[in-house]
Amino acid sequence: MAERVIPLVDQRAHTLAATVPVQPVPATGLLGDALGRPLRDLRISVTDRCNFRCSYCMPKEVFDKDYPYLPHASLLTFEEITRVARQFVAHGVRKIRLTGGEPLLRKNIEVLMEQLAALRTVDGAPLDITLTTNGSLLARKASALKAAGLQRVTVSLDGLDDAVFRGMNDVDFPVTDVLAGIDAARAAGLGPVKINMVVKRGTNDHEILPMARHFKGTGMVLRFIEYMDVGATNGWRMDEVLPSAEVVQRIQAELPLVPLEHNAPGETAQRWGYADGSGEIGVISSVTQAFCGDCNRARLSTEGQLYLCLFATQGHDLRALVRGGASDADLASAIGHIWQGRSDRYSQLRSALAPDTGTGARRVEMSYIGG
Ligand code: GTP
Ligand code: 5AD
Ligand code: SF4
Ligand code: SF4
Repeated sequence: MAERVIPLVDQRAHTLAATVPVQPVPATGLLGDALGRPLRDLRISVTDRCNFRCSYCMPKEVFDKDYPYLPHASLLTFEEITRVARQFVAHGVRKIRLTGGEPLLRKNIEVLMEQLAALRTVDGAPLDITLTTNGSLLARKASALKAAGLQRVTVSLDGLDDAVFRGMNDVDFPVTDVLAGIDAARAAGLGPVKINMVVKRGTNDHEILPMARHFKGTGMVLRFIEYMDVGATNGWRMDEVLPSAEVVQRIQAELPLVPLEHNAPGETAQRWGYADGSGEIGVISSVTQAFCGDCNRARLSTEGQLYLCLFATQGHDLRALVRGGASDADLASAIGHIWQGRSDRYSQLRSALAPDTGTGARRVEMSYIGG
């Protein structure tokens, strides 16, 4: 087997200045990027830390006790996050997702939730506010989050078998605790709960059917995610990707499925319904069937860098503007200008690009910008 090379360059240092354009870009809610894609979805990472070490995201060998996590002063405060988010919303964002790392590790996260829940879209409607979590702290926090204005949650769960799950999270965390977290979220009214399973061929693909059987008929939506080449540390190999078409085939063989229409433009998942009417599943095929064509997602890192793509190598430094005394109008203009210049579509171009050999610009880690 080829030796695994772990790059040591810290890509977070490579940022682009965010500047206020000479020609203002007022927030009209009608912003489009260079490919005509609107801005609808803002994903905010609130911490770069996590209590799990999933090998596809934060491999233990890299994210060890010496890893230089962001110091507290680097993080945007809740007030700063809300202020930045408000400008995104004015530009047309309708959905906000809190991510991490593990977002529930951020102290008093419900206070931020309350602030974000008070924002209104350009049409005066409440935002769709959601959160992606590994579920480990959900049993403790679900009701406080609901009370603060969180509407729903997505829980990552890579298998039901305890040994498989402990292996995937790589910190020996028991699956029963995550299942208890999911129950608590449902009891608190944080539904419909979505369950995200990253599928790695040869590691947890034998859990596909047990997972489908377990969640069928529960009202929860299970989504299977193709293992992606995000970041630069997970040692990604194409032969560990199980194409979504095969996931569907395997389920279909036991539990008949029918294709469903997209819920919204730009949606990551293709939906399938159980033929007996007992719910739906989704597949997220960013490797075999890229969905960049109508990608409307912006990502705000823990320290206030705006990333235009999950696979970007550089972010735009909004924190410098925020802390440098920029007005709301200036901030909105800067965000609008950056989005107008956006032409990222990494997944679509992946096959045409040379493989990442560890010598060029390093892609940023998913634990830093969020899923
Ligand atoms: P909802 O369906 O509204 O809950 O949101 P969503 O479909 O955006 O789901 P979620 O945030 O749970 O994303 C699911 C997974 O899809 C993520 O964990 C990523 O693995 C992947 N994903 C999300 N957004 C992107 C994206 O913009 N590009 C790529 N390539 N993958 C993405
Ligand atoms: N491939 C696919 N999805 C990933 N995630 C993290 N790393 C990867 C990867 N390499 C996603 C998973 C997880 C969420 C937090 O991030 O969906 O549930
Ligand atoms: Fe943590 Fe989620 Fe990354 Fe796993 S995938 S290490 S739970 S942030
Ligand atoms: Fe959007 Fe980049 Fe993902 Fe394509 S690869 S869907 S442009 S975030």
